[in-house]
Amino acid sequence: MIRPIVLYGHPALRKKTKPIEDLEEARKLIADMFETMHNARGIGLAAPQINVLKQIFVVDTLQLVEGYDDPDMPLGKPIKQAFINPEILELSGRPIVYEEGCLSIPDVRANVERPFKVLIKYQDEEGNWHEQEFDGLTARVIMHEYDHLQGKLFIDYLSPLKRQMLSSKLKNIQRGKVKPFYPVILP
Ligand code: NI
Repeated sequence: MIRPIVLYGHPALRKKTKPIEDLEEARKLIADMFETMHNARGIGLAAPQINVLKQIFVVDTLQLVEGYDDPDMPLGKPIKQAFINPEILELSGRPIVYEEGCLSIPDVRANVERPFKVLIKYQDEEGNWHEQEFDGLTARVIMHEYDHLQGKLFIDYLSPLKRQMLSSKLKNIQRGKVKPFYPVILP
């Protein structure tokens, strides 16, 4: 089921999330999240973005494999995967500046510096725990989605000047003056 995506200014995007214990509930949520994300042409989605304050996010960089060619950011191992109750254990590698966007902040893109690699612990849909390292774009998406579970957004990393430059766009979203092509929950 496609769920509406919460837009910037909505309190759900600033709340901390709780661990999810019911795996049946997790699996249903994950199916909806993949459907919602693909419908919006995204490559990552976190539960708070559909107004569910639970520790789950999904990533699909597998869909980018064909024709991927970005010298500034290697794709890394492409995945189509859900992360349940994730915990980042280590960030490493050289810092990379790369342009990010977010389905909750339509039409806003900005450069964010993050490390190249991430080591993350998480549960899969069967409840098994894994510890895995990712790099490149896949790691970048994981870091962005993990931030959502802490109530953090990519625009929080921007300099005051850059934020100022984006402020009218951000205000428009907060005032509900944007109409993305996918279903949304206005702030
Ligand atoms: Ni996002």
